[in-house]
Amino acid sequence: MAAREILQMGNPLLYQRSEEITDFGSAQLRILIKDMFDTMADSDGAGLAAPQVGVLQRLVIFSVEANPRYPDAETVPRTILINPEIEVLVDEQEAGWEGCLSIPGMRGVVSRPSQIRYSGYNEKGEKFSREVSGFHARVVQHECDHLDGVLYPMRIQDIRQFGYESALFPDEE
Ligand code: NI
Repeated sequence: MAAREILQMGNPLLYQRSEEITDFGSAQLRILIKDMFDTMADSDGAGLAAPQVGVLQRLVIFSVEANPRYPDAETVPRTILINPEIEVLVDEQEAGWEGCLSIPGMRGVVSRPSQIRYSGYNEKGEKFSREVSGFHARVVQHECDHLDGVLYPMRIQDIRQFGYESALFPDEE
């Protein structure tokens, strides 16, 4: 395990635009991706963007596995997404709760397009694209926002729907 430190909201690096990746074969990239998965697993997160570990490169990862405790929760395939582009496929927006490893213990409601096509490159530099909706679409948009220096609270429309998990969902746990 080589979990890295996750930068917390307020750190100026989280508000920068990250740079395109051009060197796909490098050992540095391979180690970064492995460390990001270790970091995400360590914190039990659904996704992580490179700037959250202080690396200003356009790389995000995400993965939501089936959890027997939440049989109805949507799963998201384990994905490495580099230099992503997002195309919105519908006008409709969907409101949903989000959290972020850079803002631990808090949740907020964010409206986002409900259906998107995203494309980008895997760690070998192979291009791929997917059409997704629901939670998968939300996770991708949240992570890609990090690459443009956007944290989810910046998108909350009703700030009363932003708060501590323990206060918002006292019955959980
Ligand atoms: Ni986040």
